Amino acid sequence: MTSDLSSRLSAAPVVPLIGENDAALAVKTANALNAGGLSVIEVVMRSDAAQAGMEAIIAETEGLIVGAGTVLTLDQAKSVRASGAEFIVSPGLVDEIAVYCLDEGIPFFPGTMTAGEVQRAYALGLRDVKFFPASLAGGVPMLKALGSVFREMRFMPTGGVSASNLAEFLALDHVLACGGSWLTPRDAVESGDFARVTQLASEAVAIAKG
Ligand code: 3PG
Repeated sequence: MTSDLSSRLSAAPVVPLIGENDAALAVKTANALNAGGLSVIEVVMRSDAAQAGMEAIIAETEGLIVGAGTVLTLDQAKSVRASGAEFIVSPGLVDEIAVYCLDEGIPFFPGTMTAGEVQRAYALGLRDVKFFPASLAGGVPMLKALGSVFREMRFMPTGGVSASNLAEFLALDHVLACGGSWLTPRDAVESGDFARVTQLASEAVAIAKG
């Protein structure tokens, strides 16, 4: 992981997901999150417009580390990298994406939920992975079990994380950060209620500090 990303996540170990189709709203959402203290942002590639939204955030905001999520193929990984993504997140582990990211020196967080998947990530040379979908994959007890075996691995639980269980996940030593979409509720973004996004980000930062 880059030292800048690592130090940002140490200071505020929460990665909000942006899934906006509208680039202007994506930029406003990113700025609202940053105002609340969250400056590492994952833009999920779940629509044709998502990559343009990520590019707009990179071009029009300052002080953010912006990554691409829901990256499914090697070609997509290369494409988001070319668009300026500073880290890449996948729902699962695809070896060729992992090898590409390791070669390029770009942080890569593939989704894992079993010991076999974590071990494959470890064998490929990865030390940081996503734990996905965190709540359905066994939540905190499963993550404790995985962490006790894979001593060098650090995990980013995502999927079912919210303000109500954030503290429990962050209490685990081997949790690097938690990701989630609870910080960017669609109704708030679409109604222009960016103050709520900032408030949710501030609340997450306060929980992380607590
Ligand atoms: C992801 O892309 O990592 C998950 O879909 C996020 O899950 P959440 O919506 O429960 O935060």
